[in-house]
Amino acid sequence: MRIYIEDNYEKMSKKAALIVASQIILKPASVLGLATGTTPVGMYKALVEMYNEGEVDFSEVISFNLDEYYGLAKESPQSYYTYMHEQFFKHINLPKIQTHIPDGTTGDVVAECLGYEEKIRAAGGIDLQVLGIGGNGHVGFNEPNDKLNVLTHLVDLSEKTIRDNSRFFKSESDVPRQALSVGIATIMKARQIVLLASGKEKAEAIKEMTDGYVNTQIPASILQTHANVSLIIDRDAAALL
Ligand code: GLP
Repeated sequence: MRIYIEDNYEKMSKKAALIVASQIILKPASVLGLATGTTPVGMYKALVEMYNEGEVDFSEVISFNLDEYYGLAKESPQSYYTYMHEQFFKHINLPKIQTHIPDGTTGDVVAECLGYEEKIRAAGGIDLQVLGIGGNGHVGFNEPNDKLNVLTHLVDLSEKTIRDNSRFFKSESDVPRQALSVGIATIMKARQIVLLASGKEKAEAIKEMTDGYVNTQIPASILQTHANVSLIIDRDAAALL
């Protein structure tokens, strides 16, 4: 695992954007795994700037997002569907048909989850997976538990995640209690992984996910067993290393 400690959020975002852009320059039809949350906002902004400068072309890229709230309308301001459109997709030349986000409004969860895995497989697997990390060590919405789901699944969100994510909703009671998330194997099968973390609220999780042990209570800790992971974190997130 390579660990890059950057001075601040802007530098972390730029470094991540450079890695994503390099991937696309080297392989224009790259399959990207994409994350939501506050952390990658700066990375998406930097990528949009590079696109506007003509430095990167998304026309052949295929993307798969990690997760989506279950039971939230796509048009809801808090859906990850809306987030991806607003933060990234509407600013670049990635054809909508090449973007994928789990359908949190599906009436058939099993078919949706199996279908999502199949679409990733048919696209040739993920070349580069971008990840954030929850304050409790979750990746995607793979929450701390005795057992971790291998494949895409419906998950009950933990109390901490509901509390953390309530900042995007009117109140805590408005936060969906469930989500669809890719599984741990779906993430681990990516050929390259970049995990971003910023701020002191992430310092404990970063310490625990790099401590030399795999612990299902810190789902991100399994990334230590992946051959090609870059951690790009700012000084605050690195404070306990
Ligand atoms: C969310 C998402 C994760 C994200 C994490 C951290 O709930 N499901 O994919 O990485 O929590 O979010 P943030 O970057 O806002 O701290």
